[in-house]
Amino acid sequence: MEPFRFHLFVCTQQKPEGLPSCPASGSLAMLNALDREIQARGLDRDVQLTTCGCMGLCDEGPVIVVYPTGTWYRHVQPSDVSEIVSAHLRDGRPVDRLIWNDAAAMKAMAVEHREKFRAAMAARDKAGTLPDHLDQMIRGYMPSRCILTALELDIFTAVGEGADAEQIGTRVHADARAVGMLLNVLVALGLLSKSGNVYSNMPESARFFDQSSKDNHRNGLLHIANIWHRWSTLTDAVCRGTRIPIDRDNTPEWTHDFISAMQRNAKERAPYLVKALGTMGVRRILDLGGGSGSYSIAYAKASSEVQCDILDLPEVVPLTGEYVSKAGVSAQVSIRTGDMLQDDFGCGYDLIMLNAICHMFSEEQNRDIFRRAHSALAPNGRLVVQDFILNPNKTEPQHAALFSLNMLVATDAGASYCELDYTLWMNAAGFTDVSRINLPGPSDLIVGRVK
Ligand SMILES: C[S@@+](CC[C@H](N)C(=O)[O-])C[C@H]1O[C@@H](n2cnc3c(N)ncnc32)[C@H](O)[C@@H]1O
Ligand code: FES
Repeated sequence: MEPFRFHLFVCTQQKPEGLPSCPASGSLAMLNALDREIQARGLDRDVQLTTCGCMGLCDEGPVIVVYPTGTWYRHVQPSDVSEIVSAHLRDGRPVDRLIWNDAAAMKAMAVEHREKFRAAMAARDKAGTLPDHLDQMIRGYMPSRCILTALELDIFTAVGEGADAEQIGTRVHADARAVGMLLNVLVALGLLSKSGNVYSNMPESARFFDQSSKDNHRNGLLHIANIWHRWSTLTDAVCRGTRIPIDRDNTPEWTHDFISAMQRNAKERAPYLVKALGTMGVRRILDLGGGSGSYSIAYAKASSEVQCDILDLPEVVPLTGEYVSKAGVSAQVSIRTGDMLQDDFGCGYDLIMLNAICHMFSEEQNRDIFRRAHSALAPNGRLVVQDFILNPNKTEPQHAALFSLNMLVATDAGASYCELDYTLWMNAAGFTDVSRINLPGPSDLIVGRVK
């Protein structure tokens, strides 16, 4: 049975550099072109496109197999895509010049490839060679570090419409030879292209990393570059059990990048939270550690009856003010400076929000915040925690487990917690009906109600 008229399998198996593979022969660009062309011709409902692993014909790549006919295409380039889509997928006439139908030769090649692969794996195993996936995991920081340095130096903006290493080096006030080495790696990583001596941004780099683009994420991403320095202290932090202070902590630039990164995330997630909790019965909101104010802004926009109070640290409050005023909701959102670990929360709130807050604090601090939040809520009021929530044995999801270490290197006693932790703390603080609401994306809600 085949639910689609055609089902295409495109090999995208990555192999170590130097080995023949479909991606090394251009299968990823071809796949993109194929996807675009299928959509452009309105064939989406008739054609299913699936990526797949190695089919053993790596020297003949990029390889596509089309079912239900079992037609094998080889050496397919983006320039062949239009013909395949119009002739084969629209008109049902396979493209003969690209077909490989020598079944005996194909089988021989695939079997030989499989045997060679198994023999190579066995030889490596016998020799005690470090497996590739472990080697890659260990070196994983290298590409990341290159991109972070490029963002720090604002290389992508300096590349602009195209420039050579000397021009880019001058623009970013760095050594031309070293900049050239970095640019070459960015080409290898697929973020730039190079023609002669001239480097150009690839479309995604131009869109997301060049400061002149409206979708530029550079400021928010610089936060990742900033926390790199904290991650460098991980070994000491694990030994000592808490963060190791570093010089770069909490400078005005650090705070600006941090809140910018928080805003990038919160702006996207705020509509999910408002939809999940609703506006019914919500008039007064306290947004503890509101940061960019994105959640209060979203609530203010969702209901003209809502009034929000944001509480945040003195160095953040001016930035919060800018975001709130830019959103045009200053009449509904007031901002106050304070320390949520010490200051009075006030009273009579219908909703208290702790978005991306609890992971900064210890169990005792969170229990104390929950107790004081309970007193600050009106009857029937709700406390909502939004965070990365670990499974009960605290090993998954991976991003939440990693984030726990991010808190180890960044805070005195923070961590990622699991649903049971939050439930116990909320119950101990007097909340009832504690439940979890899963949101799209990496963080979820835990909500408790005051009787
Ligand atoms: C991870 S950010 C989350 C910001 C915002 N809630 C969001 O989800 O985008 C943590 C926020 O809590 C604030 N914060 C940290 N410690 C605080 C404290 N003791 N009192 C008040 N705010 C605090 C930080 O300044 C920052 O704005
Ligand atoms: S990598 Fe595509 S067939 Fe082997």
